[in-house]
Amino acid sequence: MHLLIPAAGSGKRMGANRNKLLLQVRSKPLIAWTLLAAEAASSISWIGIVSQSADWDDFKSIIADLNLKKTIALIPGGSTRQESVYNGLQALPLNAEQVLIHDGARCLVTPNLFDACSEAILHCPGLIAAVPVKDTIKVVDDNGIITSTPDRKQLWAAQTPQGFDVNLLKQCHTQGVRQGWEVTDDAALFEKCGMEVRIVPGEETNLKITTPQDLAIAEFILSHRY
Ligand code: C5P
Repeated sequence: MHLLIPAAGSGKRMGANRNKLLLQVRSKPLIAWTLLAAEAASSISWIGIVSQSADWDDFKSIIADLNLKKTIALIPGGSTRQESVYNGLQALPLNAEQVLIHDGARCLVTPNLFDACSEAILHCPGLIAAVPVKDTIKVVDDNGIITSTPDRKQLWAAQTPQGFDVNLLKQCHTQGVRQGWEVTDDAALFEKCGMEVRIVPGEETNLKITTPQDLAIAEFILSHRY
């Protein structure tokens, strides 16, 4: 299975002046934990890291330090996640039929979740890891007034990995560029094109590290794993 890791963001919401994936968690850069999980997933054979060229020296030394055995490609990032994934899709080897996309910022993913998604994507055109929402979710207008309360039973929190048939996802991205769609995950493009996306059970610990609090939670979870 081919895996693309969007890793070209900034550290804005983290309050950091550099790519948050280079911040340390448990004495390793955050992205190192994501890469170690991908390396340990038996289904993954090729890893493409999409990142800003300014970070490439750091990424190269992280890859060397981890002594990873899998084939790794560095791919230039875009100005949005959507653009970064688009670049990643163009850089896939020609024989790639399915692809998993996993945010570098979800460094607590397990090898098992990668393998479960790799297996499931052989049987459907598109999938995402997701977990049922625990909170009651409110829709709120610009004045801070609640406009509705969706039925919680139908709400799932989207995670990555997300998996797709490569040709279909390329078509959806091209359509997205043509129509000017701006989305925050690849499943949304698939949905907008009227294609079915299946849910695979995600992991409660598979957090997207976004704020300093998330970093502290990641430290805690990793300290109980290793
Ligand atoms: O900012 P956020 O955490 O939502 O980004 C999700 C993932 O997308 C992160 O792993 C980030 O590095 C990546 N990203 C990207 N290119 C961008 C912006 C974000 O690859 N231009």
